[in-house]
Amino acid sequence: MMMQYILDTAHLESIRHAFEYYPIDGVTTNPTIISREHSDFAKLILEIRHLIGDDKMLHIQTTGDTAEQMVREAVALKEYVGGNFYAKIPTSEDGIKAMREIKKRGINVTATAIFTQQQALIAARAGADYVAPYVNRLDNIASDGVQVVADIVQLFRNFDIKTKVLSASFKTTEQVHKIALAGGHAVTISPDLLSNLIYHPLTNYAIDDFNADWESAYGKVGILDLLK
Ligand code: G3P
Repeated sequence: MMMQYILDTAHLESIRHAFEYYPIDGVTTNPTIISREHSDFAKLILEIRHLIGDDKMLHIQTTGDTAEQMVREAVALKEYVGGNFYAKIPTSEDGIKAMREIKKRGINVTATAIFTQQQALIAARAGADYVAPYVNRLDNIASDGVQVVADIVQLFRNFDIKTKVLSASFKTTEQVHKIALAGGHAVTISPDLLSNLIYHPLTNYAIDDFNADWESAYGKVGILDLLK
């Protein structure tokens, strides 16, 4: 399976742009990301669903404190946004209980706010389809986010676990690159980091050079004009 690129934002214009230009597999949100938009939550998640279509993954986080609240929210969210939906559940004790119940009801689960290998393994045992370790937040506490992800990937291989690792919390292209090398199945990144992944000044320089050479030979005409 090819690594999946997912967009970690609820900003509609950024989602529209990214889905038009890039091969994006879905959108993830969390309460912080949603709160940045200062808009009607129900309307916003429905607009995201309409923008990306039913086939793309939409991961939305529950906000309840108890397992029972999380389950009720996951069921309601799934019914409300429809399509390819994942209930994002924080990996607390109540979260683990909720994951097991939500899976029983046939709803996809993403275990989030993962910082350790054992959190990931237990969430996988509880039925999570994805686990989301926070790479940059681990790096920020002098831990090693990439190593934690590499360990989780290895554990899932050891035990032939189908759960995928959806790495989150990125600040640099280098972190994304190292996760890909470690066999991480998916990354969720900001729109800015997405464009940084393909940015290189030498690429722009090469394109400018091609255009200048072409124009000096053929003038301001394009290939379509010359094929007439
Ligand atoms: O998806 C989780 C992610 O949004 C956390 O990222 O940048 O707040 O550490 P950050």
